[in-house]
Amino acid sequence: MNNHLENPTQFFNSLNGSLSGGQIVHSKTCIADMAGYYHNESARSSLDQAKIVYRVAAHFAEKPGTTGGLFFGISTVFPGLVGQEYFMTKGHFHAIRNRSEYYWCIQGEGVLIFMDEDGNCYAEKLQQGSLHYIPRKVAHRLANTGNEPLVVGACWPSDAGHDYTTITQLGFSIRLLNIDGQPQLQKVR
Ligand code: F6R
Ligand code: ZN
Repeated sequence: MNNHLENPTQFFNSLNGSLSGGQIVHSKTCIADMAGYYHNESARSSLDQAKIVYRVAAHFAEKPGTTGGLFFGISTVFPGLVGQEYFMTKGHFHAIRNRSEYYWCIQGEGVLIFMDEDGNCYAEKLQQGSLHYIPRKVAHRLANTGNEPLVVGACWPSDAGHDYTTITQLGFSIRLLNIDGQPQLQKVR
């Protein structure tokens, strides 16, 4: 037996959601990367293409695709609008459809939009401390409806993968718009 106590190598700040230490992978998605995701493409193309819409910091303790492991990530969606549509993530189904996920809101205000494989959508408000279960076979997207960054934690199976193609082809059947300063869901089909 090795009776030496190992020091932690990764840290999660539960107040602001920041992840630090080894094995943390950071990614960012800019306006330029969001072509085809917003309703108003001409509004999107007229914005600063380098502006960051969201960042993700994730701890990948396993090789992606490994069955039986978990991944842990923090998504930060910045406040903003593309036309009337709130800054949001691309949204995805898991490539292996039979994989679920937890989200929890650490900071900010927003909405989590869900869509099943038949295109039925529903949405839940995100507020500090709220916990959200994303069932298997359900696509999910975050939108920031507030004036500060929306910070959301996530934990998902390491073999889940991401299917963005279905979303680029079909889109979500509801969109979250800012109408007279208030978030409103609008059916698109
Ligand atoms: C992982 C997951 C989140 C998202 C992140 C970015 O399964 O749901 O970590 O990947 O919020 O959103 P997307 O992947 O839709 O660009
Ligand atoms: Zn996911």
